[in-house]
Amino acid sequence: MDKFLISGGAPLVGTIHVSGAKNSALPCMAAAILTEDEIVLENIPHVRDIETERKLLASMGAEVELVDGPANPHTRIRCATLSDPVAKYEIVKTMRASSLVLGPLVARTGMARVAMPGGCAIGGRPIDLHIKGLEKMGATIIQEHGYLEARAERLKGAHLVFDKITVTGTEDLLMAAVLAEGETLMENCAREPEVTDLAALLTAMGARIEGAGTSTIVVRGVERLHGANYRINPDRIEAGTFLIAGAITHGDLTVEGCNPAHLGAVLDKLREVGARVDLLGTEAVRVRAIGPLQAADISTEEYPGFPTDMQAQYMALATQSEGVSLVHENIFENRFMHVQELIRMGAHIKVDGRIATVRGPAPLSAAAVMCSDLRASASLVLAALVADGRSVLDRVYHMDRGYERIEQKLHGVGARIERVANAPVSQEEEALTT
Ligand code: EPZ
Repeated sequence: MDKFLISGGAPLVGTIHVSGAKNSALPCMAAAILTEDEIVLENIPHVRDIETERKLLASMGAEVELVDGPANPHTRIRCATLSDPVAKYEIVKTMRASSLVLGPLVARTGMARVAMPGGCAIGGRPIDLHIKGLEKMGATIIQEHGYLEARAERLKGAHLVFDKITVTGTEDLLMAAVLAEGETLMENCAREPEVTDLAALLTAMGARIEGAGTSTIVVRGVERLHGANYRINPDRIEAGTFLIAGAITHGDLTVEGCNPAHLGAVLDKLREVGARVDLLGTEAVRVRAIGPLQAADISTEEYPGFPTDMQAQYMALATQSEGVSLVHENIFENRFMHVQELIRMGAHIKVDGRIATVRGPAPLSAAAVMCSDLRASASLVLAALVADGRSVLDRVYHMDRGYERIEQKLHGVGARIERVANAPVSQEEEALTT
């Protein structure tokens, strides 16, 4: 298993580039199921979850080609025939977002067999709202042997009201509705930019959608969809992670290729803690932190509130801020996996239910730490960038799920970070962990 070796203390200075949004790419790739024509997607990030989605689509009979190269890398997907509309457990267990193929498969073929996604490190991650919506649209769904089997002659438009705001639930049912018979009214939808990205692709494919990006979406079903070319959004969570890296290391970092309009809550919070944040046009943000940072509370909310996917990264910053920061995690029931590892590095954090109390500034010391999930891993990278000494981060495959070449990008702006592939357990590491 690959590890990162990170020596702390270097301020990040320079310009770092943001890749395409993983959480846009996943639903947009699934949308290719809805047509026999070819879909071409640009700005798809080279991360593990995308590779998993490519394998999933190929296993169902899709042709998926990653056209790499300096000039306009893109992904071509054609689901001319779907010989095996089954999302197998072996793949789904590695990526629960595989449930995004459920709606499009039923809409396109009238049938879908999708392994029930297990929970994950951050919570139970049920998909009951996806199922409830499909049943309301006329699908019959049986759950047995760990699989969901959904069938429908043709889905019918319906009035769907989400009991809870769900990002992939909104995306899954949006993809089901675009080929349904009649009109679908969806209320209490997720407003994340990734939903808007998907709706833009579906519209380019011939779908009739109004209200994407708001809580209420109206879809008028059509008979068929055609191919399209589409460039997905930059990754707002990767951009936010880099902005925090610039602030925590007291550097001077320009994050380019991002969309500042998607980062409102994060930029406001960085200013509140005392970082200097400047917008450079519409695609770059410069962050500097000259003086000491001040504590500030966060409460994770659905978009446009402070993103849960930035909570762990912000907590690392809060360990270095002067004062007490309260971190409320309102979206997932177990998204504090990074806390114990941060404490092992010297952070002062107490957790009570969904609230973590962070007292700073706490000098961090290097340690051998374990990555547990995608964003917890990012939090440990940020902490290691300011810890005294050289940290060893194990199981960085969690990072590779959603961050493209992060060690190369950070190294390019001054971080002392290297990847060690299949590293044996060193004596130093044993000393740190025994
Ligand atoms: C998406 O997950 C993202 N993943 C997550 O990013 C992100 O943390 C999450 O939205 C919240 O913003 C992708 O887009 C691939 P939800 P999703 O459905 O859709 C409950 C990352 O780090 N819920 O919005 O699975 C659920 O348990 C990942 O990139 C139900 O109860 O999240 C949670 O408490 C992690 N029933 C809340 O809703 C359902 O049927 C929000 O979950 C669906 C969800």
